Amino acid sequence: MDQFTGKHILSVKQFDRDSIQTIFSTADMMLPYAKREKRTRVLDGAILGNMFFEASTRTRVSFGSAFNLLGGFVRETTGMATSALSKGESLYDTARVLSSYADVIAMRHPQSGSVSEFSQGSMVPVINGGDGANEHPTQALLDLYTIEKELASNLKTIDNMHIAMVGDLKYGRTVHSLSKLLANYDNITFSLISPKELAMPDEVISIIEDAGHRVIIHDQLEGNLDADILYLTRIQEERFDDPAEANLYRGQFRLNQQIYTQHCKSNTVIMHPLPRDSRSEANELDTDLNLNPNLAIFRQVENGVLIRMALFALTLGVSDQVQQHECAVNWYSNKSISK
Ligand code: CP
Repeated sequence: MDQFTGKHILSVKQFDRDSIQTIFSTADMMLPYAKREKRTRVLDGAILGNMFFEASTRTRVSFGSAFNLLGGFVRETTGMATSALSKGESLYDTARVLSSYADVIAMRHPQSGSVSEFSQGSMVPVINGGDGANEHPTQALLDLYTIEKELASNLKTIDNMHIAMVGDLKYGRTVHSLSKLLANYDNITFSLISPKELAMPDEVISIIEDAGHRVIIHDQLEGNLDADILYLTRIQEERFDDPAEANLYRGQFRLNQQIYTQHCKSNTVIMHPLPRDSRSEANELDTDLNLNPNLAIFRQVENGVLIRMALFALTLGVSDQVQQHECAVNWYSNKSISK
């Protein structure tokens, strides 16, 4: 058995450079299917249990789309209130039950460690779609895949790059997972820009520093933006004990075209896991950047489908059979994916 088939995906800590490369080359192979140039029925008859106990737009729908694009069926739960978890059922029992209905489960839950606990009751592989402030491994993989492609178009590599992470680095699980994944690479400079109260956890900084990378900590945006990758995050109001406390930080770090022109390199890549908070009091990533060619946020979204298709194919042991199960697209399709 290889290192993916039948395995849970709970944390980025389970990946090294070789396994990351396997995921990325499998994702590359998925492009014609995601673009609807061809289709494949390699997962015909398979069922994804898409179990989202916390709000999501991209992760939930792209997991479902990725599974459908491989020919499989999707069954979903959305929200805690409509689940028997709200009647006191344990994560173990929930997993034992749901895994008897599905071949693989993608799950999001508001508590750190919950997806790992759930996986202990599951009879099928479980993929972490975000557990509280802890981890979001599939987002980190799609972010890294995007970073590699964006840097390559600027003749740069992940090794030796400078990344600035901005915003809520305390509760933002995407920056936790991405930082740990980047620890596998060489000679990266991390600029960590946040309010002091929302700084990157020491545990994550230790992982980066122990891997030999350089960490610079700032609490100001201007003057600290000349990175290759600028990765902004939302203030995670749902993680504060008192959500009103988020108002203290909302809107402190805003990027718009004028700040970009003044402080960034001409080819600094702008990333954000989304959703961006576009309310006037936040407006952390201004829509006046939408026509900036270095804004990669919607390319991240598209790459998320490719990465999740790759993870399903690898986890279910069919990555070498995708082309054998190919068929034609019969409907009008004008789906352009930015590649
Ligand atoms: N990036 C991300 O996790 O988005 P959703 O919350 O919409 O899934």
